[in-house]
Amino acid sequence: MAILGATGAVGREFVRLVHERNFPISVLRLLASDRSAGKTITFRGSEIPVLSTAESSFDGVQIAFFSAGSQASKRWAPVALQKGAFVIDNSSAFRMEPGVPLVIPEVNWHQVRDEDRLFPVGNCTAILLVMAVAPLRKFGKLRRLVVSTYQSASGAGARAMRELEEQTRSLAEGRTPVAEVFPYPIAGNLFSHNTPINEYGYNEEEWKVIQEARKTLEMPDLALEVTCVRVPVLRAHSLSVNVEFEGPAPSEAAVREAYEAAPGIALVDDRESNRFPMPMLAAGKDDVLVGRIRRDYTNPNAVSIFVCGDQLRKGAALNGIQIAERLVAESRMPVGA
Ligand code: A2P
Repeated sequence: MAILGATGAVGREFVRLVHERNFPISVLRLLASDRSAGKTITFRGSEIPVLSTAESSFDGVQIAFFSAGSQASKRWAPVALQKGAFVIDNSSAFRMEPGVPLVIPEVNWHQVRDEDRLFPVGNCTAILLVMAVAPLRKFGKLRRLVVSTYQSASGAGARAMRELEEQTRSLAEGRTPVAEVFPYPIAGNLFSHNTPINEYGYNEEEWKVIQEARKTLEMPDLALEVTCVRVPVLRAHSLSVNVEFEGPAPSEAAVREAYEAAPGIALVDDRESNRFPMPMLAAGKDDVLVGRIRRDYTNPNAVSIFVCGDQLRKGAALNGIQIAERLVAESRMPVGA
């Protein structure tokens, strides 16, 4: 196995998951940019060197996980594929390509065909949204989703997480926070997602969520209205979601029951103690947390929910390793060769 972007926030999480989940590998090759050559990462008790990436990096690799950004994916995915590897790619480079499956194993594994070797992992916010909405499809056709997000620093990578920590220290010590990775101070602040705005007035993140949710849910015409906001949370994204059906909305009890039965979802919905999904409950966890379940009193066809999920886990590395595990379980990848 090769991990490209091994020194990054998602790459490191992937290394941890390979260990935790005892994924069957014989050799792990850790790859990053020239900047990281000479660093090591601990894996199963050994210090593994981080190598700079070259054509030969993918020789003999059966499965490659990429999380080094779109440019690196576009450069190296064709090389790895040509050398016979399965590629699981956490960047946006190939997600919307027709014929390339965009899978969340719990939701749409049936879209995978025998010949597929390239598996993009969806945008982290889109994955969390789809995980929370998919179990509701049995209550009738979805008409429209209205989504507001509260996105953590982890979505912008390891340097952004360090920037939030550093700025938080600055605030506590009465110093002015200095922004380098994000365009504005993130500690003690929040701002519209730091991606360019397109011709329709949506930022790139909002547009990804709209397009990718439609693809994964196989609903090309689904109406989605999305606002993405960056908040001073270290890891785990949150989403407020209003789900409108074509017909009458299900009861709160039916929605709860659907979530209790849904794989990868944990219900956190305790009205008495006002305890609902929070980033601190979701961070480091595999399950996507769902709660605040209520009928929308302004619309008999709609329910509202609140969702939190670890952006580095289900939003990225966990979804990636679950794809790898399915490939192994289906004997599509010889193990330990
Ligand atoms: P490096 O640490 O050497 O810069 P994050 O998303 O947390 O910012 O991490 C990005 C990851 O992608 C890092 O491991 C980074 O390595 C790696 N990376 C960035 N650009 C390249 C590149 N051109 N080739 C290989 N790895 C890259």
